[in-house]
Amino acid sequence: MKSVVYSRTGDPSVLGLVDRDVIDPPPGEVRVRIVVSGVNPTDWKFRLGSGDGAAPPFPEVTPNQDGAGVVDAVGEGVVDLAVGDRVWVYLAGHQRPTGTAQEFTNLPADRVVRLPEGTSFDIGASLGVPAMTAHRALTVSEDGPSRLYPGALAGKVVLVAGGAGAVGHAAIQLARWAGATVVTTISSPAKAALATAAGADHVINYRDQDAASAVTKVAPDGVDMVVEVAIAANWQLNMDVIKSRSSIAVYANDGGSELTLPVRPHMVKNVRYQFVLLYTVGDAALTAAAADITRALEDGAMPVGEDAGLPLHRFPLTAIADAHQAVEDGAVGKVLIDVS
Ligand SMILES: NC(=O)c1ccc[n+]([C@@H]2O[C@H](COP(=O)([O-])OP(=O)(O)OC[C@H]3O[C@@H](n4cnc5c(N)ncnc54)[C@H](OP(=O)(O)O)[C@@H]3O)[C@@H](O)[C@H]2O)c1
Repeated sequence: MKSVVYSRTGDPSVLGLVDRDVIDPPPGEVRVRIVVSGVNPTDWKFRLGSGDGAAPPFPEVTPNQDGAGVVDAVGEGVVDLAVGDRVWVYLAGHQRPTGTAQEFTNLPADRVVRLPEGTSFDIGASLGVPAMTAHRALTVSEDGPSRLYPGALAGKVVLVAGGAGAVGHAAIQLARWAGATVVTTISSPAKAALATAAGADHVINYRDQDAASAVTKVAPDGVDMVVEVAIAANWQLNMDVIKSRSSIAVYANDGGSELTLPVRPHMVKNVRYQFVLLYTVGDAALTAAAADITRALEDGAMPVGEDAGLPLHRFPLTAIADAHQAVEDGAVGKVLIDVS
C-alpha cells in the first residue's frame, strides 16, 4: 500500500511516500481502508516537533489523526464492526505510529465509528479532532448538560470564538443542533458569511467593533458558556459578557500561551475555566462524543463544504506536504487528502 511516513521531525519536507505491507489487525483492532484523511493543526505540530530533526516517538510515523473509509478486516474479539462498514475514525495516531495518511490503517475498534447512511466520507474525515473537541467544550459547564441531543442546550447562549475555524464550525453546528443560541466572533466579512452558513445566530467581527458591547446587545442576560480558541486575547471579552456560573472551555493557545487573570471579577461571577485537550480527555468523554456526534449526523446537522460554512481544500496523498503546509498557513475551512 501507499503510505506517508516521517522518521525525523521537521518541516513538511520530512514527509515521504513509501510502499508498506498491509498488516492484519491484531485482536481488538480493525483495519480501515482510508478513503479521505483529514488534516488538523495537531498533525503538523506533532510532525514539526521541536523542528530540529529529532527522532519522533516511533522509528517511523504516519501522520494524521482523522479520516474516513471502509472497514477492510476485523481482528479477533471485535463484535461491533464488520467488513464493509463505512466509518470515521478518531485519534488514529495517538500513542501509535499509524495515522490515516496511508491506504490502510489498523486502529483499536473503539476509535472507529460507523457513519450513518448518507453521511459522506468528507464529513467523516472532518469530525475527529474538531467535533470531539467541540463536544467536550460544550459539555463541561456547571449548569449545562454532560451529553448533547436536541434540546440539551435549549435556553443557553453559547459564545464560540472563531466561528470560521474547524473547531469553531463544529461547535456552532453541535450547539445549534442541541438548541442553543449561538453568538460567534470572526475577523472578516468572508468569515462572517461562513459562520452564518454554519448556523450561528449572531456573528460579530471582533476586529472592527467593540465585541463586548456587540455580544451584550444580542445576549443582554449574558453568555452561559464560551468555546475558546484564543484565551490570552479574549479573557477580558469573555469576562465582560459571561453570566454567573458560566464556563469557559479553553482548547487552544492561539494568540498567546500565557494568561494572567484578575481574581476578584472571576470570583464574583463564579466562573469555571475548563481546559480541554482531546488526547487526555479520557475514554468516557470520547465515547460520549462519538455517540452524540453520530446522532447529530443522523439528523444531518454536521454538513461540510462552503455552503455549510466549512470550505474544503483537497489534496492527493502525493501532495501531503502541501496539505500540511496549507493547514499551518491557516487555510480557512477543512484540508482533506484523497487517499484511495
Ligand atoms: N485542545 C485540543 O484538543 C484541540 C483540538 C483541536 C484543535 N486544537 C487547537 O485549536 C486551534 C484551532 O484549531 P482549528 O483546527 O479550529 O484551526 P482553524 O481552522 O485554523 O481555526 C482557528 C480559528 O481561530 C480564529 N481565531 C484566532 N484568534 C482569534 C481571536 N482572538 N478571536 C476569535 N477567533 C480567533 C481564527 O480566525 P481569525 O484569526 O481570523 O480570527 C480561525 O478561524 C489550533 O491551535 C489547534 O491546534 C486543540
